[in-house]
Amino acid sequence: MATTNVDRARANKRQTKNDGEFSRIMNATDTKSKSQALYEEALSVLPGGISRNTIYRKPHPDYAVRGAGCRVTDIDGITRIDFANNMASLIHGHANQQIVDAVTSQLSRGTAFTMATEAELRFAQHMCRRNEGFDKIRFMNSGTEAVMAAIKAARAITGRPKIAKSEGAYHGTYDYAEVSQKSKPENWGSDANPESVPVVEGTPQAALDDVIVFPFNDTERTIDILDRHASQLACVLIDPLPHRVGLTPANGDYLAAIRNWTRDNGALLVLDEVITFRMGYGGAQDWYEFQPDLTAMGKIIGGGFPVGALAGKDEYMSVLDPTRDRLPFPFSGTFSANPITMTAGRVAMELFDVAAVDKLNKLGEYARQKIAGAIEASGVVACVTGAGSMFRVHLKPEPPLDYRAAYQNAEEIAQIAFLVNYLYDRGFMMINTCSAALSTALSETEIDQLADTFEAGLTELRNNS
Ligand SMILES: Cc1ncc(COP(=O)(O)O)c(C=O)c1O
Repeated sequence: MATTNVDRARANKRQTKNDGEFSRIMNATDTKSKSQALYEEALSVLPGGISRNTIYRKPHPDYAVRGAGCRVTDIDGITRIDFANNMASLIHGHANQQIVDAVTSQLSRGTAFTMATEAELRFAQHMCRRNEGFDKIRFMNSGTEAVMAAIKAARAITGRPKIAKSEGAYHGTYDYAEVSQKSKPENWGSDANPESVPVVEGTPQAALDDVIVFPFNDTERTIDILDRHASQLACVLIDPLPHRVGLTPANGDYLAAIRNWTRDNGALLVLDEVITFRMGYGGAQDWYEFQPDLTAMGKIIGGGFPVGALAGKDEYMSVLDPTRDRLPFPFSGTFSANPITMTAGRVAMELFDVAAVDKLNKLGEYARQKIAGAIEASGVVACVTGAGSMFRVHLKPEPPLDYRAAYQNAEEIAQIAFLVNYLYDRGFMMINTCSAALSTALSETEIDQLADTFEAGLTELRNNS
């Protein structure tokens, strides 16, 4: 990591080799990086020059050309260690050979058919074996779709219109699921009665009215809020380790109270395990003594390809069953269960066996300790949260237990951005909240390097403030 971006960018500019499709870029002016040149082109055809906001960086995103294991190389020839793993979706890092081989073999035989494939059956069998609460599973193409399907299934099963979700939690971009994901002090209402705040301008009031928002990890207030809407709630949607809420795990007693409440009140408990399925062989729900009614998944189970899945007991999953006389929830998707995703997902998940989950979680524990050590050595007021193979840094004295405690003021946002950029410029790619989602391609060596650089970044932050 001794070579800096600037050194590499300069070296790259001296390079004269022409790469064919990048020829126009290679001819860019001497002062311009190839990423900058691409971005300037992209501005004319993509809103803001990008296709998803999560990858935007100032002054422009860099353009990846290849990934191998825990490393990604951009078009300017700079290689970074990847702690973001495409927003926590690449459990084995980049271009895992077994996944590449299996997908390559399937690619040459076709990528999508107006027919079923054996690939979906074999993957479904594998997933249902991982968790005894999964009698049946339905595949789709994103976590957003999986959460949407869970909500629609809950409505179809219960005949009720409303859902409840925790303030600040990100569950994808379905109108109902995204309510109050970006609440602010000026619009979030009281602690006892969080407001339903839209993310997108123009969200119908009817959608907001049908979403009840509760404070994460606060049993008394949550149950009180649920009680007030008991007869109308189709489901309670909850992520047991919500990244945007602070990456603090749901307290076991808290989730048990919600589980009991849903059972007593005829509502379903929907667990969003789109991120957290990595936490245990059967998902983060392995942590608890109870099971949800429905589980939404995505990210790592696609083996690097777009995926979503909804799983649960037969009595609930049968709402999707077209062989029944009455079909309460008709649901299809053009590329759902395509054999590429099904093949990649099965191989990735078979590789992520009990031993691999355990090993990666231990690496996560090691990382949290090293980052906590760096914080202590730097003397900066900060803490690290997370569980299993993930962690997040907060510039707060104590791990925040809910969204309001995790909320960052403008100064904290700027300081977190400084740290993320400091790491990026020295060869470490983090999720932009200064979070990490580890892959099995990483080892303690890369974590040690990250922790050392992080400590230097914190020290510079302290000296600058
Ligand atoms: C907890 C959670 N649920 C749902 C989603 C939506 O998944 P996707 O981006 O695949 O639509 C995400 C994405 O980050 C997520 O973190």
